[in-house]
Amino acid sequence: MKKTILTGIRPTGPLHLGHLFGAVGNWVKLQKDYETFIEIADVQALTDNFNDPEKVHDNVLGIAKDLLSIGIDPNEVHLFIQSTIPEIAELTVYYSNLVTMARLYRNPTVKTEIAQKKALFGNDGESVTYGFVGYPVSQAADITAFEADLVPVGEDQLPLIEQTKEIIRKFNHIYGETLKEPEHLLSETPRIKGLDGNEKMGKSLGNALYLVDDDETITKKIQNAMTDPDKIHKDDPANPEKCMVYYYHKLVNKKNLEIVCEECQKGHRGCVNCKRELILHMQEFLEPIRKKRAYYDNHPEEVEAILKEGNKVAKQKAETVMKQVKEHMKIDYIK
Ligand code: TRP
Repeated sequence: MKKTILTGIRPTGPLHLGHLFGAVGNWVKLQKDYETFIEIADVQALTDNFNDPEKVHDNVLGIAKDLLSIGIDPNEVHLFIQSTIPEIAELTVYYSNLVTMARLYRNPTVKTEIAQKKALFGNDGESVTYGFVGYPVSQAADITAFEADLVPVGEDQLPLIEQTKEIIRKFNHIYGETLKEPEHLLSETPRIKGLDGNEKMGKSLGNALYLVDDDETITKKIQNAMTDPDKIHKDDPANPEKCMVYYYHKLVNKKNLEIVCEECQKGHRGCVNCKRELILHMQEFLEPIRKKRAYYDNHPEEVEAILKEGNKVAKQKAETVMKQVKEHMKIDYIK
């Protein structure tokens, strides 16, 4: 029997290289060895996009196409949409009794996101909803509804998995052994830096390279990427470790890496040329992904069929867990 993976992604925008190298690429590697459930977390996306339903709606299909384009194999993976599994919402309600508000506010991921909201909307806390603070509870429901053994994620998700484990332990302690405790798994590069040198690539940070970016956009973004600030002239020796262009060569131009590094250190490589080379390698890297993406854009009915099948299998799995939970919580009344 294969072990089970459950992981998820919010449909709030197209996939970028941070997703790909940070977590999603790992899903592709693992999909054959595990029974894999990948959730498009629309309910979670709505916790901070509830006033923009169009955006979440449009990105569900977009994310599904992006995932299929980078190599998620619909024959291996159950790709499903969170809102089609009401059991997840149901579990969320029951788990919410097992978490204190103080603990939710202490969750580092939630804390950072609240700080970002306050910076955006003012320091009045008005923008922080009950649903938003509670999303780690719903993520615990996601994970446990599929009896996940393994949750492969990016580094920013670790506090959420920790919180899931606490909920599981508390549940099992009170209601008897019911829920399975998962392990997390990070990729080799669990956090990908932005083009501007920021520690994280993110949509809201405006420093991301998207899989759907066209050549012109890629070119512009790479031309503006941060390089070693101490390198003033073309022939100055520089430190590649301070340069985002080198950082991205590491991801998509592994075979020439030594040359790139050496020439940069010796001052034999101007930044303009180095960027030009990176642009070519990036385009080459993205080419097969774009081809597949174009295919799915032309065959939306195939994507819908994949999701429909994924929703069906996911629902069956969640129903069995739900039944157990209800039994153990003594909320099964009339047989
Ligand atoms: N919180 C994740 C993100 O923002 C998405 C997600 C939802 C998830 N449910 C999950 C990740 C369950 C792992 C497991 O990207």
